[in-house]
Parts: sequence; structure tokens; C-alpha cells
Amino acid sequence: MADTAKETKAQRVERLKRSKNPWEGLEEIRCFAREGFSSIPPEWIGTYFRWWGVYTQGDGAGVTGGQNGEGKALECFMVRIRIPNGLLTSEQLRTIGDLTHRYAHGIADITVRQNIQLHWVTIEALPDVLEALARVGLNTQSACGDVTRNVTGCPVAGVDADEISDASPLALEVSRMLAGNGDFYNLPRKFKISITGCRVWCPYPEINDIGLTATTRIVDGTPEVGFSLRVAGGLSTEPHLGTRLNAFVRWNQVLPAVKGIAELFRDSEVLREHRERARLKFLFLRHGWTAESFLDELQRRIGFRFDPAVEETPPADVYRDHVGIHQQKQPGYCYVGAAVLRGRISAEQMRTAADLADRFASGELRTTNMQNLLIVNVPLLGADELAKELDAIGLKVGGSPFFRGTVACSGTEFCKLAITETKSFSRWLVEELEERLPGFDQHLKLHVTGCPNSCGQHWIADIGIDGKKMKVDGGLVDAYYFCVGGALGLYQATARPIGYRCLATDVPAAIERLLRHYLAVRQAGENLRQFFARHTDTELRELLAGEHVDAVPRDLPPLVAKRVVAQAAGGDGD
Ligand code: HEM
Ligand code: SF4
Repeated sequence: MADTAKETKAQRVERLKRSKNPWEGLEEIRCFAREGFSSIPPEWIGTYFRWWGVYTQGDGAGVTGGQNGEGKALECFMVRIRIPNGLLTSEQLRTIGDLTHRYAHGIADITVRQNIQLHWVTIEALPDVLEALARVGLNTQSACGDVTRNVTGCPVAGVDADEISDASPLALEVSRMLAGNGDFYNLPRKFKISITGCRVWCPYPEINDIGLTATTRIVDGTPEVGFSLRVAGGLSTEPHLGTRLNAFVRWNQVLPAVKGIAELFRDSEVLREHRERARLKFLFLRHGWTAESFLDELQRRIGFRFDPAVEETPPADVYRDHVGIHQQKQPGYCYVGAAVLRGRISAEQMRTAADLADRFASGELRTTNMQNLLIVNVPLLGADELAKELDAIGLKVGGSPFFRGTVACSGTEFCKLAITETKSFSRWLVEELEERLPGFDQHLKLHVTGCPNSCGQHWIADIGIDGKKMKVDGGLVDAYYFCVGGALGLYQATARPIGYRCLATDVPAAIERLLRHYLAVRQAGENLRQFFARHTDTELRELLAGEHVDAVPRDLPPLVAKRVVAQAAGGDGD
């Protein structure tokens, strides 16, 4: 019998994982549904459910009022539906819309990994949700937990006029190989993979444990498409952009390479000692691994060597929110991209979008990493009409840069670790910025995240703000800390924490000051990334504040810091 009283969090989770593969527990879930919420044992609530994409839902107050860095939970669940490569049919979207209407208070969220997430789902409803999804070829297995998460890919794979190759079949194959496979149910922690054949790396390979990007080499005068390989990327409180290995991964080497890396990760016992340092990146950050030693170990495991990498040019300053009407590689067809403001979508909008995809196109849709929705294979003649219909239901094909570029995590509405409310705040922020800066002509990525965990990816945004509390009249109120100038691709850099923090209510005015100054002084053709790069932290802080202010440390006020320290020690991943 294990001495459970003295276990650390990591030891407990490791013990639970060794004793059961939760994917074999569907009958137990059915039993809980019959017997009610009180019949669910703590190991299912806190651990095993995640393997089914099921996560306890916060009580609306976030971390406040909870214990050990976790807020209180309600007796209902968040359910994450996995959508590999973001490929979705109208029938599937209609089904998600119906389930959202029936069980999820009529709203869902498109996430930054191309998933769709429901909330408010009761244990009684869960079997029905899982079965209805399975009937249309969808599932939730592997969407959360210490497993391979949704395999992301370019949402316009196969239709993009400029792509190197359609890599979505590989993304789907990798997904089938790992998600739900008993050999990979017990990884040290979450494992993220992105595979893309596009030139602009829109699914952010740099922030995945494995990032594969198509590239071409010439062999005996003939072009051959293969992949560049980056490993160990990830955001969270300690961001690490993927390390490129010296390998040209041929098309037929992708599956063994991915499997080898998944095994290497699985077998890294050293990562199982601390939950908060269990991601692949910590082999590099804490255990002295290098690109060379990683490649050696990988090649030893898979039993063959890769050819050396070929030179590549990462994409420069490209915004790929896919919003708007774009010609496809298939003559006479286009795809129509609609911005879904901070990913929040209603049951009604999903049903209507599904119907529109049938009426105007072939019934194929895609979800994107910027929390948007696309309809592909639209005959050109119908595109304007389709765009009008999408606009009419609030899915904007022609939204402002703020509407298009805003991304937000779950926040206090549903997340037990949240310090601030994010979704309603982001909608208000966009409305304010549209009013304050009408006609603003630059794309920008404005990411809002409710705590330092960075689920809203503030590290890779032009302007990324993460939630804090500030004291006002003796009470704690929502505030945000600013990070500026994050970028991926050729100019990759995590956003700079610039020492400025303000109340949530002051955020629109601060951003207005910064962007007005940019508009006034920008050099010909200068984009936001370049503008931020030629200004110091102090200058940017003063532009946001409108006056000289001293830098505040990124650390939180004492009360919240206490909770966040507890979170870092014991907080567990989504
Ligand atoms: C230690 C705790 C956590 C850490 C370190 C963490 C970190 C992250 C990061 C870095 C991402 C970005 C995804 C990407 O790589 O592209 C992400 C995604 C996400 N996180 Fe968290 N997270 C944590 C807990 C939570 C919790 C408690 C919730 C809410 C219940 C949550 C909700 C989400 C959602 C909705 C996404 C979108 C991604 C998806 O579909 O997989 N996270 N998380
Ligand atoms: S960043 Fe993640 S953990 Fe933090 S509030 Fe947002 S969803 Fe919750």
C-alpha cells in the first residue's frame, strides 16, 4: 500500500496513472452518470476525467476563495472536443451546436488549439455527449491530461494557394497513432504536436513539443518535400521556443520520428518528479540537453539517421488569421474566414454556420488557432453573399483589426486558476478600441490571459496582457500586466514584460495611447513589431501610462502572489 499521506502532488498523479489507463474507464463514467455526481471518486474528478477531455469547471470566482492555489469547482464540467488539424464537417458542427444548446447553456469556445469546448455539462449528460460526438466521428479523448493533445495543423491545408504541401493527412495519421493509444496514455505531462505544410506556419510550430514545417530540398535536380523539425517548445510561466534539430525529415519518416520523440518523452523519468517542470522543454531548460544530444538519442531509438537539415526561411511578419475571402488553389473556389470574437460562439451561430457551409459550399469547415471559423471550397460566385450572411450572425468576415486579432483564455468564468475575468473583458476591450481608434490600419495580435499560465498565449502577441489583482479601496480588483512585441517566425521572440500594470478598466486607454503614438510617429512601412523593437521598455511603459512611471516587477501583489506560488507548486495543467 502506498503511503499516500506523504505523497507529493507529482507522486500522487504518477501513482494514479500507473494504476489505471483512464481510456479503459468508459463503463465507470456511465456508472457515475447513473449514480450522480456524489458517486464520483476524487481520482476521477482530479485526474482521470482529463483523459476524456473533461475538466472540473470553476465556480466563477477563479482562484479566489479556493485552497492550495485552486479555486472552488461546481458540480459540472468543461468538455473539450478534439478537432485534429481543425477539420470539421457541417454535420459535426451541427451536432456540437445541438449539444451546446441542450447541455452547455447555449455557448461554446473555439480554443487556441483548434478545439471546441463546452461548459456546464453535468455527469448525467456526459455519456450522451460522448455518444452523440462519436456518432459523427468526433471525440474528446486525449483533449486534456498527460497525453498527446490535439494535433494542430494549417486550417487551410489542401486549399491554400501558396502551400508547399497538404500535410493534413500526416497530422491525422499522427493523431490516430497517439491519441487513445494505450502505449501513450501515461506521459509525464501534456504533449503538443503541430504539423504544417503552409509557408507561414500559422499553427505556431515553435510553441509545440514537436513542430514540423514543410520544406523542400533538391535531390538530383528533383524537388523533394520533407520537414524541418523543432522540439521542446511551450509557453506557460517559463516560455521556450522550439529548438530546431539538424534533420531533414522525409515524408515517410514523420511517423517514426514523432513516435520516437513521444517515447523519449514518455521514458524521461526525470521529468516525472515535478508536475510544474514535466514538459519536454525542461530537458533543455534544466537537464542540460542540447539539439545535438536530443537528435542523437532520437536517432538511437528509431534506428536510422536523418539527412541534415536544409536551409529554410521562416516566415516574416505574417498575420495569418485567415479572416476574409481568399482564392483557393482550386480555380473558381475560395475560402471564407470569419472572426469569432475571442472564440466565443453560440449554439445558434454554429447551426447557422453549418447550414451556410452546406448551402454555399461543400459542407466543410475549419477551426483556427486564432479561435476563428472558416468555410472552405466556396464557389467564388457565392462568396460575397456567404460573407454577408456570416456577418449578419456576428461572425465577421470584415471585422476591425481588434475584432480579428483578439484572443482570450477561459478566465474566471470557467477556470479554477484564473485571477481575472477575460472573455467579457475582451469583448468590451475590442468595442472600446474600435471606438477610440476607428480605421486603425494594422493587423495586431492582442492576447488576453487570466493568469501567468498563458493559455491565451500572451507571450506570442504584439500586445499580450496577463491577469493580476490590484488593491483598490481595500479590495482586490482585476488588473493586467503588459508584455509587448511577441512574434514567431523569422523574428521570433517572446513578448517583453515591460513593467507596466494597470486596472482592467484602464487597459483601453493605455492601448489607445500606445497605438496613437505609433500611428503618429511610425516610419514609412513600419509595422508594430518594428516599432516596439526600436523602443525601450521604459519608453513603451511611458507611452502606455501617458506619463513617467517606474517599472513594477512582474511579481504579483502579496495576497495573490501567495496563491500563485501555491499554484506553481501544486497547480496542475489543463
Ligand atoms: C498549470 C496549469 C496550466 C498551464 C501551465 C496551462 C498552459 C496552457 C498553455 C501554454 C496553453 C496554450 C496552448 C498552446 O500551446 O498553443 C493552454 C491552452 C489552454 N488552456 Fe491551459 N494551462 C493550465 C491550466 C488550465 C486550466 C485550469 C484551464 C481551464 C479550465 C485551461 C484552459 C485552457 C484552454 C481552453 C486552452 C486552449 C487549448 C486547447 O484546446 O487545448 N488551462 N494552456
Ligand atoms: S491562463 Fe489558463 S489557467 Fe490561467 S486563467 Fe486562463 S485558462 Fe485559466
